[in-house]
This record gives sequence, C-alpha cells and structure tokens, in this order.
Amino acid sequence: MLKIVTVIGARPQIIKAAALSREIRNNHTDEIREILVHTGQHYDTKMSQVFIDELDIPLPDFNLGIGSASHGVQTGRMIMDLEKILLHEFPDYVILYGDTNSTLAGAVAASKLNIPVVHIEAGLRSFNKTMPEEINRITCDHVSALLFTPTSTGLNNLVKEGFSETTTKPFTPDNPGVFHCGDVMYDNTMHYQKTAFKKSKVLDKHDLNGEFTLCTIHRNNNTDDAQRLNTIFSTINELSRAHKTPFVLPLHPRTAKAMEELLESSVRTKLNENPYMRIIPPVSFLDMIVLESKCRLVITDSGGVQKEAYFFKKPCIILRSETEWKEIVDVGAGVVTDVDRDKITEAYTHFVANTHSSAYPSIFGDGNAAGFICQTILDNK
Ligand code: UD1
Ligand code: UDP
Repeated sequence: MLKIVTVIGARPQIIKAAALSREIRNNHTDEIREILVHTGQHYDTKMSQVFIDELDIPLPDFNLGIGSASHGVQTGRMIMDLEKILLHEFPDYVILYGDTNSTLAGAVAASKLNIPVVHIEAGLRSFNKTMPEEINRITCDHVSALLFTPTSTGLNNLVKEGFSETTTKPFTPDNPGVFHCGDVMYDNTMHYQKTAFKKSKVLDKHDLNGEFTLCTIHRNNNTDDAQRLNTIFSTINELSRAHKTPFVLPLHPRTAKAMEELLESSVRTKLNENPYMRIIPPVSFLDMIVLESKCRLVITDSGGVQKEAYFFKKPCIILRSETEWKEIVDVGAGVVTDVDRDKITEAYTHFVANTHSSAYPSIFGDGNAAGFICQTILDNK
C-alpha cells in the first residue's frame, strides 16, 4: 500500500485535490492511502470548508491552522509543522498543487526529508519574479521527482530549464519524470457540471437570469496598489453602466480588506449607486461553475478562473501584464490588458461584439488527468 500525504491550503488547492481524492477513492483504495494535510492558509468557511463539504473531499487528517501572516512567517510556520507530520507519517510521496505558500512549504519540508515530491500543475511560468507564485512554483518544480504539466507550454518551460522528457523510471529528484497530462481542474469542472446545475441557486439569488459579466480580483499587485485597485473598480463600474449589464463579483477576502483601506470614496459611492453592480461574498465551486457557464464574458486576474472561462468557451479579459496560460491568449479567447482602462474597455467592446472569436480547441487534456497521475505514481518503481 502506497502512502501519500497531500498538502492543501488555499482555495484552488482544495478544489484541485478533489480530483485525485476521487480517483483514489474510486479506483485505488487497495493500492493508495491518502493522508490530507490542510495548512489553514485559507480558513474562512467560504474559502475552505464549503469546498470540502460540497466536493466530497475527505475531512483533512490534520489542519495546521496557520492562517494569514507575512510570507516568511506563514511559510516558516508551515514548514515547521509539516516537517513534524512528515517525520511521523513518513509517506512514500508528498503531493503538492500549484504555486502558493502552502506549495512552497510542502516542497521544502518534504525534499529536506528526502521524501519524493509530486508537483501537479508543474511548469507554469509568468517570467515575472516579482510574483510570489513564480518563486514558489520554480522552487517546487526543481525539487520534485514527478512533475505533471497541464499544458504543452508547461512541458516546454520545464525542458528549457533543463528537465528531460526522456528520463526513465525510477524517477527521483535527481532523475525527475516530467509528464504532460492535462489539467485536473478540467477533470473537476466536467465532473461537477451536472450537479452544479441541479443544486446551485446562484442565478436566482443575485438576479442574474439575463446577460451578465463575471469578475474576480485577488492578485496581490492589483489589491495592494491603490492606483491599480481604483482603476479596476472604476473601469468595471463604467463598463457595466455603459453596457447596462450586471457585473457579478464574488469578492476574495484580500480584496474586501484592500477596498476598505484603499478605495477612493468617489469610486465607492459610484459602485454603491450602480444598480448593475453585484459585489457578493465568495461563492462555492458549484455556484462558480454556473456563473462561468452562463456569463457573457469573464474579467479576472485569477489563474483558475481564466482556465474555467475557457472550459466554458467564454472570452476572458486578463487583468495582468502576463499569463501562465499562454494558449488561451494565443487562440484569441483571452486578452492580457493589465490594469489599463483603455485596453480593458477595448477588449470588452471587442468581446461583446464577437463572443465566438475563438474556436476553443482542446488544450487542457481529456478530463482524466487524475487517472494518469495516480497510475504514473503507482508505476514509479
Ligand atoms: C493565495 C495565494 C495565491 C492564490 C490565492 C487563491 C500565496 C502567496 N498566494 O493568495 O497564489 O491565487 O491564494 O485564492 O500563497 N484572508 C481572509 N480569509 C481567508 C484567507 C485569506 O481574510 O480565509 C485574507 C487575509 O487578510 C490575508 C489575505 O486574505 O492576509 C491574503 O491571504 P493569503 O493566503 O496570504 O494570500 P491570497 O491573496 O489569498
Ligand atoms: N472560485 C470559487 N468561488 C469564488 C471564486 C473562485 O469557487 O468565489 C474557484 C474558481 O472556480 C477556481 C478557483 O476558485 O476553481 C480559483 O481560485 P482563485 O481565483 O482564488 O486562485 P488562483 O486560481 O488564481 O490561484
């Protein structure tokens, strides 16, 4: 029986972990035992527990309860506590997702104990090291034994950094195996789509049964910079009024806090007086699937939401200066506008007039990335 420890912590990692947990439960209970460790990086009910309940993820075996802090303090505490658990459990593998501080902490704690790391969502690069996530993902990739990339761009990035596609097993940190297997979030989105439409009442609740635009904002360089934050909110406010279209924005707690501290009162007043603006608490994943599939277009700085917009064939305006999901832009389904009022307005006008301006070719796999990952781990002998 293979013992694995899966580390989760931030919202998207909890959702991603559902795919592999489901695969283990359905097909590998006699071969793999998964121990789930939640670092507690995200802790509000709507940022954590809601996904565990809704997506049938087993209750975490350990919750470290680390919470929010500066990067050093948060990551340091996670490493200390994860080390204790890993020394006690000594698993065959540690599974890490994405690029958060929980990912970095898991990579440091496991690799220093010579426990092989499996990195899911490996190889993504923004080529912008001012982004905390870029540092986390590069570090994690370079100590991993098994790396699973969701896109061919991810695989190519790893090859450019010296990883080889032709290594043979057994794979170790010094002889890593890299695999392009598709995206576990594509698995999940397809899996939960039917349930989402059965269970979610989000459209009725927020009066969104006509055309609407979906926005999410949480990237630290957008929330913590007063000028960027005010430009984003004044621009979406103007767009929703000009197009007489509801804009729904499930608000990340980081953004809620930043708005209290940094939003100009004139922008706040305009948002409050705008009948088209629906700024709502974070929603569940099932609600999010319904919003993504029913909206006209998406405006976001989220990595996950960019992809899910694509899964549902919705154009996406990306409020960043670059994206790791380069394919979305290459096929014309996404536009990188950064926080530039004119570029955002131009992209919005373009997409409203040309909703089907991309063919949305298949980029993210066949919906069975988790199956491939489990089998590859089992075969690594
Ligand atoms: C983190 C990840 C980011 C990911 C995002 C997903 C890092 C460095 N960043 O960013 O890559 O895209 O999660 O959502 O790991 N807060 C709450 N309640 C919570 C969680 C957070 O109020 O349950 C507030 C706190 O004020 C906290 C702030 O949000 O200081 C930021 O949280 P943190 O986990 O540090 O980073 P995120 O911005 O959420
Ligand atoms: N998400 C959600 N509810 C929300 C906002 C996002 O369930 O209110 C989901 C979204 O569908 C995606 C994931 O959270 O699966 C993305 O997380 P986030 O945007 O926080 O982080 P990122 O992907 O940028 O790291």
